[in-house]
Amino acid sequence: MIHQVNRYKNQLGTLARGIAATMALGCVLAAPVHAEDAKTIAATVCAACHGEDGNSLVPMFPKIAGLQETYIVKQLRDFQAGRRKSDIMAPVVAALKPEDFFALATYFSAQKMKAGESGDKKLADLGKLVYYDGNEDSGLPACIGCHQAKGDGHLIYPRIGGQHATYLTQQLKNFAVSERSNDVSRFMRVVAKRMTEEEINAVAAYLADQGAK
Ligand code: HEC
Ligand code: HEC
Repeated sequence: MIHQVNRYKNQLGTLARGIAATMALGCVLAAPVHAEDAKTIAATVCAACHGEDGNSLVPMFPKIAGLQETYIVKQLRDFQAGRRKSDIMAPVVAALKPEDFFALATYFSAQKMKAGESGDKKLADLGKLVYYDGNEDSGLPACIGCHQAKGDGHLIYPRIGGQHATYLTQQLKNFAVSERSNDVSRFMRVVAKRMTEEEINAVAAYLADQGAK
């Protein structure tokens, strides 16, 4: 990952030097820069489903605003390589280049994931217990151990606080039956298999309320 980030930085460095040289010659700059590309791709391609700032309004389309940069790049790569299966995302990423992944990740991770609507308060309270304590009886680890307080996430552990409950529920069910299997070290498959349906719904209700108010 660090290697790739460095390579990307090198590419940007080369691009910047190229731009400087072009400007020095007094030419009009025609070549687009990656950050602008990302904004254009976001507005013309991603916005239709995820919203222009990444706060999708449709529960089955995940919010991607404020997701960790590292995590976004990994998911886009996994969709492209078929490690994460999605009939919807596969054709979207097919035409994208690795440098687009980094630029898009930078753009969307800089946005803020907005908190969802309060759902069932009792269910959300139960979900909070699951999130912070896990379940000793079934050996379910606490989510906070990896996803941080309020589902803020960190590096490879994605932000889940503020995400649509419908999407969270679906992903946990997918992990439980290994329908989604792109989690390194099987972290999430192990976790989700130990969850009851009630725990899944409860933790999703709790998380949907987090995020930026
Ligand atoms: C036609 C609708 C659609 C479009 C257009 C689309 N997406 Fe998606 N995206 C989805 C769906 C649906 C999923 C969830 C896939 C699944 O079920 O696992 C998803 C998942 C993702 C994820 C993973 C989110 C997570 O929390 O794991 C990322 C990142 C993402 N999309 C980025 C993008 C980017 C960047 C673009 C624009 C280049 C884009 N998407 C365009 C529908 C779309
Ligand atoms: C041992 C660390 C660990 C623990 C504990 C853990 N997770 Fe995760 N979780 C991860 C990692 C790593 C990923 C990203 C997988 C990938 O790269 O696709 C993830 C991804 C997820 C996703 C998918 C997010 C998305 O945007 O698609 C959900 C939902 C999730 N975790 C929920 C939970 C819940 C709920 C708990 C507690 C019951 C929990 N996790 C506990 C490590 C963990």
